[in-house]
Amino acid sequence: MSNIFESRHPLVQHKLTLLRAVSTDPKQFRELIRELALLMCYEATSDLGVKNIEVDTPMGKAGGLELTEKIGLVPILRAGLGMVNGIWEMMPGAEVWHIGLYRDEETLKPVSYYNKLPTIPTVQVCLILDPMLATGGSAVATVDILKEWGAEQIKFVGILAAPEGVAALQAAHPDVPVHLAKIDSNLNDIGYIVPGLGDAGDRQFGTG
Ligand code: PRP
Ligand code: URA
Repeated sequence: MSNIFESRHPLVQHKLTLLRAVSTDPKQFRELIRELALLMCYEATSDLGVKNIEVDTPMGKAGGLELTEKIGLVPILRAGLGMVNGIWEMMPGAEVWHIGLYRDEETLKPVSYYNKLPTIPTVQVCLILDPMLATGGSAVATVDILKEWGAEQIKFVGILAAPEGVAALQAAHPDVPVHLAKIDSNLNDIGYIVPGLGDAGDRQFGTG
């Protein structure tokens, strides 16, 4: 069974279209990344573990559900940073663990420059946050790091992907569900997603 989930939600597709537009400025781009991250996270967390509990309402007792798993948000720097805050407001108990990777411009291979994970895992579910899945190198390397750390359950929450990146991530880690707003046509010869949205880090931070 495929572990790839491409959103069909009209709100996701509407916001993705705005995100792609070259006329969207960095402030609007950051707002859209934040909103899309929330929507994608909502879809990706539909199977979180829960237990039955009871609460007192002003009118009596009500049965309800409480989350049972500790969640870790793992943004890949830099572009994944913009996906954190909206999700964190919705899940304030989540821990945030940053992974610093950049792509070498010539080889397109990920280069690791930051990792402060504690020696023992502190969460049960890790949500890797990165808007872009291009060659898949950064996502595969992040899952490698999290598995070596001992993470029990890992999901990738992204926005745009190339088919090449989806295939690479699924080949390396078929157990990791991949949630995306859209899988685009292809990668170009410098490793950019086409039609894509350009450089997600530069467009958020006003660089480049
Ligand atoms: C971008 C993006 C991903 C990576 C995807 O980061 O945010 O992390 O590229 O490409 P891949 O699937 O081919 O590995 P980038 O290397 O541009 O770093 P930045 O976010 O710091 O600008
Ligand atoms: N990283 C980006 O920011 N954009 C792409 O198209 C590919 C990798």
